[in-house]
Amino acid sequence: MLLHSIKSVNFRNLKSGSLEFSDRANFISGRNGHGKTNLLESIYWLLSLRPKRGTVQDCVKKGESAFKIESDLTFGELKHHVNLDVEGKSKKLHIDGTQPRRKRDYLEQVLVVDFFPEDLLILVMEPALRRRFIDIASAQYSLPHEEVLRRFKRTLEQRNRLLKTPGGPDRGVLESFDRPFSESAALVTSMRLHLLSKLGKLTDELFREGIGEKYEADIRYISSLDGIPDSWADQNLPDPSQFQDIYFNALSRNRSVDIDSGRTSVGPHRDDWCLTLDGKPVRQFASRGEVRSAMFALHLSRFHILTEKRGIEPVVLIDDVMSELDIERRKRVLELLPPGQIFLSACDPPPEIEMLGNGELRHFVMENGSATRVN
Ligand SMILES: Nc1ncnc2c1ncn2[C@@H]1O[C@H](COP(=O)(O)OP(=O)(O)OP(=O)(O)O)[C@@H](O)[C@H]1O
Ligand SMILES: [Mg+2]
Repeated sequence: MLLHSIKSVNFRNLKSGSLEFSDRANFISGRNGHGKTNLLESIYWLLSLRPKRGTVQDCVKKGESAFKIESDLTFGELKHHVNLDVEGKSKKLHIDGTQPRRKRDYLEQVLVVDFFPEDLLILVMEPALRRRFIDIASAQYSLPHEEVLRRFKRTLEQRNRLLKTPGGPDRGVLESFDRPFSESAALVTSMRLHLLSKLGKLTDELFREGIGEKYEADIRYISSLDGIPDSWADQNLPDPSQFQDIYFNALSRNRSVDIDSGRTSVGPHRDDWCLTLDGKPVRQFASRGEVRSAMFALHLSRFHILTEKRGIEPVVLIDDVMSELDIERRKRVLELLPPGQIFLSACDPPPEIEMLGNGELRHFVMENGSATRVN
């Protein structure tokens, strides 16, 4: 797929001029706080229909109530005009002037893979970031999984609300959550294990052979429940039914604890995963440089796994993270990217920029929310 042009109205600090992109490589430079990330974020919105940073309202220009993104895109081998209008909870999508029956029909045909600076923290900060990373990757890997995640979240929120009932919850109503909760929890867990095992394998290859690091990289799932494994060697999706009873029994075992604390103490919302180097979690043992290389290997492996599974050349967004690497590693990372159109940003053009795009590189300078093409 390809993004030919984009124009946004009232998106953060961006001015509403239209930008025409190269089919191969686009580089956006500019001083801090001028709108480089905002431009990449508007592309992310257009191709995923969700915010990358903050809430919907954070993305709307201060003082306005809605934003709009207009673009020309090629997907499904045809060129389309795509309009996205976002106001509060309402997201209206028009393709060639018509609203698609389901947004999924559009999302199935486009793919964006992204690496933003805040993603550098995923391996070392709180578990919620790692859960979000793997759940968003799972929904991109298999679009119907988005509905599974939504169902799990809804069930968890309803159960937690019930647990907080003044005077205690009705036991019968509480028990009626056990079956639907364990069914969706098992599906979430099964997909996480499947994808994390694929990511672990490829991350190790890219970390050692691709980037040239020395340790063996691996990924482990961390659940507090016996019977939920920390890895899944089989290439197929684990049968979720094997986890259902584990959750079902744990809910019943922990019922009193949950009533006392007013929240659900077991489930994938409490789980975590970690990346290890030679068996040791990066959080506790790795140097800063190693964490950075591991992050790049993890992101690159996600890019490749999604590209292969979806059979679409993605739009690749890399926002100002390359400057974290030395020049040799930067070159290797660029060589390791999946094929596709790329958007890269940094304050200053890096020396290896010319290897991007084989002469098809377009360079834009961002100033006060306006991007100007300089070559
Ligand atoms: N909703 C909004 N309305 C108006 N301005 C906003 C909004 N959200 C963010 N901004 C502003 O947009 C400006 C550009 O932000 P952005 O993150 O794109 O900068 P950047 O060029 O990526 O900078 P850096 O090099 O520091 O990463 C910031 O000054 C920020 O305060
Ligand atoms: Mg930025």
